[in-house]
Amino acid sequence: MKPVERLNDPVLEREWHPVFAAEQLGDKPQGVIVLGERVAIYRTPKGVHAVRDLCIHRGAMLSKGWVEKDVLVCPYHGWKYNTEGQCVCIPAQRKDERIPVRAAATVYPCVEKYGLIWVCIGEPAKPLPDFEEFDNPAYRPLACGPYHVNAAATRIIENFTDFAHLMFVHGGLLGHPDFAELPDFKIFKEPDRIYTEDIPIFQPVAHSGSEAREGTTYVYVKEVFRPLAARLSKRDADTGQTLWILLTINPVSDMESAVYMVVSRNYAFDVPDQQFIDFQNTVFEQDAWIIETQKPELLPLDLQAELNHKADVLSVAYRRWLTELGVKVGTV
Ligand code: FES
Ligand SMILES: [Fe+2]
Repeated sequence: MKPVERLNDPVLEREWHPVFAAEQLGDKPQGVIVLGERVAIYRTPKGVHAVRDLCIHRGAMLSKGWVEKDVLVCPYHGWKYNTEGQCVCIPAQRKDERIPVRAAATVYPCVEKYGLIWVCIGEPAKPLPDFEEFDNPAYRPLACGPYHVNAAATRIIENFTDFAHLMFVHGGLLGHPDFAELPDFKIFKEPDRIYTEDIPIFQPVAHSGSEAREGTTYVYVKEVFRPLAARLSKRDADTGQTLWILLTINPVSDMESAVYMVVSRNYAFDVPDQQFIDFQNTVFEQDAWIIETQKPELLPLDLQAELNHKADVLSVAYRRWLTELGVKVGTV
């Protein structure tokens, strides 16, 4: 395994990062990397948990161990850690001997929400927001990904904020080059989010399960609500059928990202879920094909570094917000 080093980013280490599909986390602990830090995640009857993926005894990876009731067992010498991180058993020592207080694992905040496992490797700046469209039974959320991309998470979020590529990168699917002209649109900035007004986009093929005729104009609203988390809604104004997409990224390192999406719809519950997941896989593959080739690889926060067009107003606001927040990883 290649050596990894924790990246220094006082802002991103206080964010919740998606690290695993919840339904895939069973009895076995799993190892993930967040900002260069190795993290072990595991499930017990109490819920989901995360610890630094390192046993204080001799540095073995706890993710290679196993769970017994609600303790995590190190695979090397069998030390057992409870969910508070305290070592509660050292098999090599006599039962009446005291366990050193320093024998502990570093516990990280960990939650399960929207079908994903989220971890924060610092003190969380905010709780994860509550989004009705991923919780309300009128909607049907599906976790997609992870998509492993050799690109900065910031470039991926910026791509998600972009409208003018839909007709080209996703031509024939989410737009058409003959309908590439965008209306002037406004964005709104609040302390914790930046979002657009309604933006109509013509799509040559109606999306899966839609009652719409072949070519349909969908109304988009895009929003960035954390440095590495964004969402959009795509609505058929005639029928009210709405698709929400939450996109969030684990910044594995500066140049490696694990992208998760949650797609939630309030229509076509009879259409197989896999059809929606396959569609998202195709769309994201098209995006990654471009994003992995962009230069500079890290998102330039200097607004003179690339040529901004008025269609890029949300992306420019995103770059400004990253500057305001002081995000380091994935930026230049
Ligand atoms: S390294 Fe974990 S118990 Fe020894
Ligand atoms: Fe795209």
